[in-house]
Amino acid sequence: MGMRVNKGYEKAAHLYDLFDTKDNVAFFYQFAKEFKKILDIGAGTGRIAIPLAEKGVEVVCIEPSQAMRKQFYTKLEKSPSIADKITILNADAKSFKLDETFPAAFLSGSFDHLLDDTERIKSLRNIHQHLNSKGKIIFDVFIGLMKNAPLALVDKIMKNKIEYHRYIGTKILPHNQISVLLVYKTYKAGLLVESIKQESLAAVITRNKVIQLLDETKFELVNEYGDYTFSSFNEGDSLLIIKAMKKENSQDY
Ligand SMILES: C[S@@+](CC[C@H](N)C(=O)[O-])C[C@H]1O[C@@H](n2cnc3c(N)ncnc32)[C@H](O)[C@@H]1O
Repeated sequence: MGMRVNKGYEKAAHLYDLFDTKDNVAFFYQFAKEFKKILDIGAGTGRIAIPLAEKGVEVVCIEPSQAMRKQFYTKLEKSPSIADKITILNADAKSFKLDETFPAAFLSGSFDHLLDDTERIKSLRNIHQHLNSKGKIIFDVFIGLMKNAPLALVDKIMKNKIEYHRYIGTKILPHNQISVLLVYKTYKAGLLVESIKQESLAAVITRNKVIQLLDETKFELVNEYGDYTFSSFNEGDSLLIIKAMKKENSQDY
C-alpha cells in the first residue's frame, strides 16, 4: 500500500483487445514509418506495437501491468517472426531507464493514467531523457467533461458464440481524478461463465495545462489533432492528440 500503482488492468487484460478496438494503429504508423526504432510507453497488450513491428519498426515497450504484459507475450508467441523487433519491459513512464535514446516515443491511452502534475512532469522529463535531439513525443489525452455516471451496460460483443458485456460507471474524485468502475460479464449459451469487477483510476486535464507542462519539460508543440485521421484539433473536442518535439539545445535533466 502507499504506492500508487495503477491496478486498473490486472483482472481484465484478457478482454482488453476485445473491447478496446480504437482505430489508431494507422495513425501511429504514419509517424513510426519515418523511424527505425521507437518507444511505446504503456504499450498494454501490444495492440499498436505488434502491427508496427510487422511493418518493420523496432519497438521498445514500457508496460507496468503484469497481466497486460502476459497478454502481449501470448500474442507474440503467435508471431515469432517479429519477436526480435519487440522488447517488453516491466517499467513505468516515470522511472524507466534505458541506455539508449530514440527518435520518437508514443503513448496511446496511457497519459490519462498519470494522475497529477508531479507524475506527468516526471514522466515527460524521463521521456525527454530518452529522446534523440529533436526527438518526438506523440500522445493522446482525454480533455472532455467528466461526470458521475451509475454503472450501465455500454458494450455487447458476440464472438465465437460467446457473449461479452461491459458495464461502466464513473465517479468524480477530488483533484481532477476519476474512478472508473468496469464490470465484465461473459455468457456461454446464455449462462454466466465469468464476472469481473475492476476499478481504474484516471485523471482529467485541460489543453492549456498539457501545453504548459510540455513547455516546462522542454518540449515544443509541433501539432495538435482532434482525432486519429489527422483532423486538426478544434475547441470543444474531447480528444487531444499532441505531437511535440524535444526543444533544440535543451539539456537533459
Ligand atoms: C488504455 S491502455 C492502452 C494500451 C495500449 N497503449 C493501447 O493503445 O492499446 C493504458 C496502458 O497504460 C498503462 N499504464 C498505466 N499507468 C502507466 C504508467 N505510469 N506508465 C506506463 N504505463 C502505464 C496501463 O497498464 C495500460 O496498459
